[in-house]
Amino acid sequence: MDAFQIHGPAVISGETHAAGSKNSALPILAGSLLTEEEVLLENVPDLRDIRTMLKLLGILGRRSERQGPDVILKAGKISWTDAPYELVSTMRASISVLGPLVAREHGAKVSLPGGCAIGPRPIDLHLKGLEALGVNIETHHGDVSATTEGLKGARINLGGPFGSSVLATDNVMMAATLAEGVTTIECAAREPEVVDACNFLLAMGAKIEGVGSGVLKITGVPNLHGCRYRIIPDRIETGTLLAAAACTGGSIFVKGARADHLERVLELYRQAGCELTINEDGIGLSVKGRLKNVETETLPYPGFPTDMQPQLMAMMALAEGISVITEKIYPDRFIHVQEFARMGADIHMEGASAVVCGVQKLEGAPVMASDLRAGAALVIAALAAEGESLVRRIYHVDRGYEKLEDKLEALGASIKRVKE
Ligand code: EPU
Repeated sequence: MDAFQIHGPAVISGETHAAGSKNSALPILAGSLLTEEEVLLENVPDLRDIRTMLKLLGILGRRSERQGPDVILKAGKISWTDAPYELVSTMRASISVLGPLVAREHGAKVSLPGGCAIGPRPIDLHLKGLEALGVNIETHHGDVSATTEGLKGARINLGGPFGSSVLATDNVMMAATLAEGVTTIECAAREPEVVDACNFLLAMGAKIEGVGSGVLKITGVPNLHGCRYRIIPDRIETGTLLAAAACTGGSIFVKGARADHLERVLELYRQAGCELTINEDGIGLSVKGRLKNVETETLPYPGFPTDMQPQLMAMMALAEGISVITEKIYPDRFIHVQEFARMGADIHMEGASAVVCGVQKLEGAPVMASDLRAGAALVIAALAAEGESLVRRIYHVDRGYEKLEDKLEALGASIKRVKE
C-alpha cells in the first residue's frame, strides 16, 4: 500500500491550478448513458474514482478514450445493464448509473453500495424518486433490481433527514429527462455539481427549469443527443489547497478556481484571519501570524460543505482559541479526530460537534487516512507539523485528488510517495 512521507513544517506558497470537479464529473459520466451519440467532456480530472466510473461505463458498453484532460465517450448502444458489486463497493457514485439505465433500457441491476467510513449512506431517496417515476424496485441478495414499462413524470419531494441529496437529485433528474410528461423535484440539491449536471443535460437537449434552485421542473423528451461539455473546477480541491497554505502560514494562488462556489468556505477563512484575493483568474490566500478560531456547522449548499470539514479541522487544530465544528450531514464523519490527536492536536467530541482547542504546534507522526477528505486533512496537518509524518492508506486520497503530491511539492512541500 502507498503512503505519503512528509517532512514538516513546510510553507505552502506559489501558484497552482484547480483540477476539474470529481463530484461533477462522476454523475455526468453516468449521464452520458442517456444518449447513443458521442459525448466529449473537457476538464475531467484523472483520478481513481473517474477511472472506476469509466471502467463501469465500459462494462455497460460505453467505450471511452482519454485525451489529456478530456474524455471522449464513443457513440454506441448500451450492451449490459448490471453494475457489479466489485465496482459499486469501491465507489458509491456508481449508483448514478441507475437513473440513466432505467430511462434508456427500462431495467437495471445495481449492487447496493452499503455504508462507508463516513457513516451510513442510504439510497432510499434515489429509490423513492425512481419509484415515483414508475420504476418497480426490488432488492435481493444485495442487489437493487429496477424495471419499468415506461417512465412517467411525477411530483417528487427528495428531502431527507439530513436535507437534500446530491446524487439522488442527479439520478432522478437524469431518469426524468426521458420520462413522459413533466417531473417536479422538490427539495432538490443545489450544489454547484448538481447545477453542472443540469447544464450538461441541457447541452444534450434536455428540458429543465429552475436550475440552481430547490425546485427542478423537467419536461421529458424522446431522445437526448451527444454534446461537448466542460466540467467545472473542483471547489473541494481548491478549498483543500487553500487550507494547506492557511495552515502553514503560506501564500497561494489557485488559478481557475471559482469563488462563487466557495462563498461560505471563503467567509470562514476570512474569519480565521486569511487574506483573500479574488479575481477572474482564480483565488489567492495569504496568512500572516496565527489563525483565529471559528465556529461552523456543515450543511447542504450553500452551507459549509461536509467535504471540507476535516481540512478546516486541520486549520483550527493550530489556531488561536477554541473552535466548534458541527457535522449535520454525516454525524459520524470524525474518524480523523483520533489521528489528529496522534499529532498532538487537542480535540474532543460533544455529540456531532468537534471542540478544537488550538495548540501552538503539531508533531509529525504515523497516521492513517480513513476516507478521502480525512486523508487530505492529515496531509495538511503533516505539512504544518514538526518532523516526519507517514500518512498511510492514501489510496483514499488517490480516489479524489489529481496529482496531489506533485501539486504540493511544487508549492514547497517535502512529500514523497512510499510503498509500505
Ligand atoms: N441520504 C439519505 N438518503 C439517500 C441519500 C442520502 O438519507 O437516499 C442522506 C445521507 O446519509 C447524508 C445526506 O443525505 O446524510 C447527504 O448525502 P448525499 O446523498 O448528498 O451524498 P451523495 O450524493 O451520496 C455527494 C458527494 C459526497 C458528499 C455528499 C454531501 C459525490 C460523488 N459525492 O454524495 O462526496 O460528501 O454529496 O455533499 O458527489 C467526497 O467527495 O469525499 C464525498 C463523500
